[in-house]
Amino acid sequence: MKGIILAGGAGSRLHPLTKITSKQLLPVYDKPMIYYPMETLIDGGIEEILVISDPHNIGNFVRLLGSGKDFGVKISYEVQDKPEGIAQAFLIAENFIGDDNVTLILGDNLFVGNGDFLQDAIRTFKFGGRVFAKQVKDPKRYGVVEFDEQKNVISIEEKPDKPKSDFAVTGLYIYDNSVVDKAKNLKPSKRGELEITDINNLYLKGSQLDVKIYEHYWLDTGTFDALLEAGNKIYNLKNTTPTAS
Ligand code: G1P
Repeated sequence: MKGIILAGGAGSRLHPLTKITSKQLLPVYDKPMIYYPMETLIDGGIEEILVISDPHNIGNFVRLLGSGKDFGVKISYEVQDKPEGIAQAFLIAENFIGDDNVTLILGDNLFVGNGDFLQDAIRTFKFGGRVFAKQVKDPKRYGVVEFDEQKNVISIEEKPDKPKSDFAVTGLYIYDNSVVDKAKNLKPSKRGELEITDINNLYLKGSQLDVKIYEHYWLDTGTFDALLEAGNKIYNLKNTTPTAS
């Protein structure tokens, strides 16, 4: 299993914080944001990680993370010239992925305090696609899962005006090697991006998408409030003395 961290995007909702640097380099309490998704991949047993960022910021990620030696993994880097969608990562990473399966995590997504849940999900993956849905207050901001009456997943819609549920697809995607060919056949959406939601719907059509409900703490740190909440959450986790049992 290979790992990809996508750390691109203009971060325009966080201006002026992101005017001169990347969102994924901003602090979340005591670490740069990208450390958290990186730890999620490493905890899942992934030893080779590709960091993808924009031409302006890629050098800062190299300065921060280097070869990966300090983290016990091998890190390499690629540039995404323009923000043309999450699914473009699989085209950029084609050589890196080779014949392997791949887990993609968004550099602004924090999955914390989940014990072995994600580690097991990554380690036990065999084929198809596996994603994680989390109940949220504001589903319109996300890819949203539609369920039928038997709770089977019937579709995923990207940022719908009228969400059919309040389950958002989080930014951690585990795929088999066919994801590269799937990405090659995508057409850009109305917003000009290769959508990860389209990849998920392709797996779904082939009855190969495993949507797991994620019940632990998850945050997409794309807004000021979310960024502050993430910092407070990490602070609280680090400063809460476990009660004796
Ligand atoms: C992206 C995806 C969306 C997903 C979200 C998770 O949204 O397009 O499907 O729910 O990440 O963070 P974006 O960050 O591009 O707004």
